Amino acid sequence: APIMPPDLSTCHPATAPALDNKCCPPYDPSETISEYGFPATPLRVRRPAHLMKDDQEHLDKYKEAVRRMKNLPAEHPWNYYQQANIHCQYCNDAYFQQNTNDVPVQVHFSWIFLPWHRYYLHFYERILGKLIEDDTFTIPFWNWDTKEGMTFPAIFQDVSSPLYDPKRDQRHVTGGKILDLKYAYTENPASDSEIIRENLCFIQKTFKHSQSLAELFMGDPVRAGEKENQEANGQLEVIHNATHAWVGEPDGYKENMGDFSTAARDSVFYCHHCNVDRMWDIYRNLRGNQVEFEDNDWLDSTFLFHDENEQLVKVKIGDCLNPTKLRYTFEQVPLPWLGKIN
Ligand code: C2O
Repeated sequence: APIMPPDLSTCHPATAPALDNKCCPPYDPSETISEYGFPATPLRVRRPAHLMKDDQEHLDKYKEAVRRMKNLPAEHPWNYYQQANIHCQYCNDAYFQQNTNDVPVQVHFSWIFLPWHRYYLHFYERILGKLIEDDTFTIPFWNWDTKEGMTFPAIFQDVSSPLYDPKRDQRHVTGGKILDLKYAYTENPASDSEIIRENLCFIQKTFKHSQSLAELFMGDPVRAGEKENQEANGQLEVIHNATHAWVGEPDGYKENMGDFSTAARDSVFYCHHCNVDRMWDIYRNLRGNQVEFEDNDWLDSTFLFHDENEQLVKVKIGDCLNPTKLRYTFEQVPLPWLGKIN
């Protein structure tokens, strides 16, 4: 059977020492769950983060929206830290699956990784847009699959900006250091141009090897009542993990990006995931938009989120496969890893 959302009244302390195990949202028993009415707003076009520094108007909107989100009352479901806690709830065991008393809801390590994070960003982006009354607002993508985007995006480095987060590995996020898509807490001794090449080859290989078998790209099945299997993640999730580790602090709890419980407290989280989401979209297009898994346990897996109307809504995987239905798309930019790599 498909994965179903948890009973929200049962949130319990998470496995999240960096947050004193606390990340449950305020619970309101009178709140009802509705079906999500998919939006009919203009198609939003997400753009690369490294180009946003030259688009002052968009950048100003982004900063203003995040500033307003941070200023909302702490208990508001749109509050910046409430939004971040969602990630902790669904990654650090704050809920058990319904009809079990020890199987956590876990949105990593399986075929629900990409769809869950797609919806998470979708609602986050729409809430930010709502806060500045702009229904074309988009979050940028960290275009790490291209040379120009392989350093930490400058828009998150400005100490005076609401997009700034002090809890990062300063050796990586400043000074134009090249991101290593295989990073696992040891520095790659290769030269910048070699690391760039290694990254492009790694992405190319990932797409090539998983082209005909979606499990390899997306992750293995997980069904209702099944515990996570940490070996079951897809190759895109593996690539994505390295960036988390590379941005977060090297010691302690690896805050913020390097730990599930705190990752979304850094705004760059959404920018990183925006590119992960884009990689999935490209994968899908390269496969002629054929459905990744003809399996109702995947298509009918269901999640809960607060939408930009403060409604608690449920959404299922089968409805998010084409971003157009969610009314966004990505600006087309060169894919230097697709053909011959120079
Ligand atoms: Cu839910 Cu980048 O992880």
